[in-house]
Amino acid sequence: MTHEITKVAVIGAGQMGMGIAQVMAAVGINVSVFDTNTSSIEKAKNSINSQLQKLIEKDKITAEQSSKTLKNLHYVNDLNAVKDVELVVEAIVENLDIKVALLKQLDAICAEKTILASNTSSISISKMASQVRSPNRVIGMHFMNPVPVMKLVEVIRGLQTCDQTYQAIINLCKKIDKVAVTAKADYPGFIVNRILVPMIIEAFFALMEGLASAEEIDTAMKLGTNQPMGPLELADFVGLDTLLSICEILHKDLGDPKYRPCPLLRKHVEAGWYGRKSGRGVYTY
Ligand code: 3HC
Repeated sequence: MTHEITKVAVIGAGQMGMGIAQVMAAVGINVSVFDTNTSSIEKAKNSINSQLQKLIEKDKITAEQSSKTLKNLHYVNDLNAVKDVELVVEAIVENLDIKVALLKQLDAICAEKTILASNTSSISISKMASQVRSPNRVIGMHFMNPVPVMKLVEVIRGLQTCDQTYQAIINLCKKIDKVAVTAKADYPGFIVNRILVPMIIEAFFALMEGLASAEEIDTAMKLGTNQPMGPLELADFVGLDTLLSICEILHKDLGDPKYRPCPLLRKHVEAGWYGRKSGRGVYTY
């Protein structure tokens, strides 16, 4: 029998972390949100409050449900405060060395049975797992942005992930009302990004070559293939810096030129045009 998860820590109060924390707190899970940056914590608090307020206004939740959700959320800036949780979900920057350093810290702080999940979109789970005491409790939980809206969680098994860890995460996905799809191996990009990223790269090449304007490329893909956002708009939404890191990891680890970052994408990142979050990307916000 797999034990039900009731206490979770989310590491990183960015766009993904706060969404993950919100959906878990909404179903009665006690969530500690950790970030070293106090302004990120303040931003996450305000954003979750306003998300919940909007849901009340739309009659999607009651004021009582909102206050229960808020009561389940705790914001901490000392990593030791997460030592008693059953699951940690890390949603920090997409960088192997930084993620491994964090996992090693968590490994020292938390019990050996604590499940360590990563929201990585492209980094090897097996590689991260190899750095902790019990690699069998490391797993990938790749949420989609915006987390409260998107139904999918990609669950990724590393080579070492055990069935008990896997089953606990599948049960948790059901509890938070998400649909889990399992990537049975942690090949780079798993399922979603392996297929999505080449499309976005191709859209950048089309833009760079002057095939059409950004608006026209997005309109063509939105109306021609029924996507809610065109690939360039989606790239801005995901964050061009994040996207570039994903391309670089897929390109290096799969060795396939279809994942080569488009020079135009790289130029945008060099200019600090990261997309929606920085006010400018392919589009200006
Ligand atoms: N948080 C919570 N709710 C949000 C939200 C957010 N950030 N943004 C929008 N919503 C809600 C709105 O409140 C609205 O709810 P309602 O239907 O109850 O009124 C609903 O979503 C629709 O929003 P809008 O009417 O404002 O706008 P749209 O209809 O344009 O939808 C969208 C916005 C849901 C973001 C839609 O454009 C969409 O699905 N875009 C594609 C998103 C996508 O593909 N995400 C995956 C990216 S890949 C990824 O994350 C992996 C990574 O590794 C790269």
